[in-house]
Amino acid sequence: MTVEMKIPNRVAVITGASAGLGRAMAHTFASAGARVAIVARTPEPLEEVAATIRTETGMDVLSICADVSTPAGCDQVIEATRAGLGPVEILVNNAGSSARSAFSSITDEEWQADLDLKLFAAIRLARAVFDDMRARKFGRIINVLNTGAKAPPAGGAPTAVSRAAGMALTKALSAEGAPDNVLVNALLVGRIESAQWERRHAAAGDDETLEAYYERMGAELPMGRYGTAQEFANIACFLVSDEGSYITGTAINVDGGLSPVV
Ligand SMILES: NC(=O)c1ccc[n+]([C@@H]2O[C@H](COP(=O)([O-])OP(=O)(O)OC[C@H]3O[C@@H](n4cnc5c(N)ncnc54)[C@H](OP(=O)(O)O)[C@@H]3O)[C@@H](O)[C@H]2O)c1
Repeated sequence: MTVEMKIPNRVAVITGASAGLGRAMAHTFASAGARVAIVARTPEPLEEVAATIRTETGMDVLSICADVSTPAGCDQVIEATRAGLGPVEILVNNAGSSARSAFSSITDEEWQADLDLKLFAAIRLARAVFDDMRARKFGRIINVLNTGAKAPPAGGAPTAVSRAAGMALTKALSAEGAPDNVLVNALLVGRIESAQWERRHAAAGDDETLEAYYERMGAELPMGRYGTAQEFANIACFLVSDEGSYITGTAINVDGGLSPVV
């Protein structure tokens, strides 16, 4: 028997989808049959990604330029998706950023910005679609977090707090949604090749190639390498597909064994 992941004609919103993990998820979901709305702030790369996915999968792709760290941006995402594709059946809260600073140096404004992007965007977007998903007896929500949600490291306090709250949000929503087949899970990222790491490599400004950078940094990890965005998209696709129909309320490490806790 062959098992294939299918997302037949369902409407999926993926935030942070002009690059990295979001882009890979959008492409993979569309390949499995989803109609995807992809969201980011910068129009050109977003349009390019939308055009590529349309051409390579033949599926409808809607690009929405919005900042999900604001209430207006979240409203815009849901309104544009409903108008362009129909009711939202799958939501992936993926947009995020990374920053590391000593706890004492982090201002209130920086804390608030981290919470707005990594926690309140997920709350606002989920709230806008949750009752509709319940009424339709189908919904899938994935919150993309990081391994700091379970094992906070030194120097990353806001992210760890936002991500731990994202895990609590995941569990609370999964309990409310389960009777109506609305499944809510979290994926905890370790180190996965993406635009975020490409920017860090470029910022170092030395002669090391990106390939050599990934190889050197990956050697520190249990599996001896970074994950690829496609490897991440595979597990996300399974969770939102018809095949992932009995998993809810979990927080899965996608980190090649990096996290010290299960
Ligand atoms: N890759 C890793 O190793 C890693 C590790 C831990 C956690 N994560 C988490 O995984 C998620 C994806 O990371 P990634 O590495 O794929 O990131 P990435 O390559 O930097 O891509 C980030 C995407 O999010 C969009 N974005 C950023 N801020 C946004 C906002 N306010 N509103 C709407 N879109 C926004 C970006 O486009 P614009 O800038 O044009 O908006 C881009 O499309 C993030 O939540 C990240 O924190 C990743």
